[in-house]
Amino acid sequence: MPQVMPMPVIQDAEPAVKTADLRAALGCFATGVVVVTTLGDQGAPVGLTINSFNSVSLDPALILWSLAHSAPSIGAFRDHGGFVINILADDQIELCKQFARPSDNKFDGVMFDAGYKRVPLIAGAAAHLECRTYARYPGGDHEIYVGEVVGISTTEKPPLVFHRGRFAMLSGTAVQS
Ligand SMILES: Cc1cc2nc3c(=O)[nH]c(=O)nc-3n(C[C@H](O)[C@H](O)[C@H](O)COP(=O)(O)O)c2cc1C
Repeated sequence: MPQVMPMPVIQDAEPAVKTADLRAALGCFATGVVVVTTLGDQGAPVGLTINSFNSVSLDPALILWSLAHSAPSIGAFRDHGGFVINILADDQIELCKQFARPSDNKFDGVMFDAGYKRVPLIAGAAAHLECRTYARYPGGDHEIYVGEVVGISTTEKPPLVFHRGRFAMLSGTAVQS
């Protein structure tokens, strides 16, 4: 069972920074883009676009992401006990947009297989991480999900990148190591 920690007491004080400034600063941090999927009522597929995904631990294998309390999909993620991180490839911008809009038909035209706990593995993704929900933590207006990775598939596809509110691609970029 996922752990749930008590919600902290919110102080009724002036915020230290403006939301617009915070958004602008966070937008300087380039990320990949993910569609995170799970199963909802009666096995209906559920998914949304996120970029809050990150690694946590190698042993045990843990990752995290955060979900807005306002997201209609939150009930499904709380109840199902598993989810899949579908890391988008750079030819999946339209899919990314489709899963970033509230809709009852997000999976229209989307090919997928069933992974851990029958959660959708979206076809064409750069990589999949199948996860058991390991813990949930309060995170302000979001809920933080920690997943234990129980299955992996990777490809050589270049990832979709998100930076300052825009999509970018690594194809053709000189890489130095
Ligand atoms: C690039 C990008 C990153 C996003 N990252 C997050 C995120 O980390 N967490 C989140 O809750 N919503 C995030 N969103 C917004 C959700 O995709 C959007 O609110 C979606 O409609 C939620 O799905 P739902 O309405 O089915 O719950 C992001 C949107 C975009 C375009």
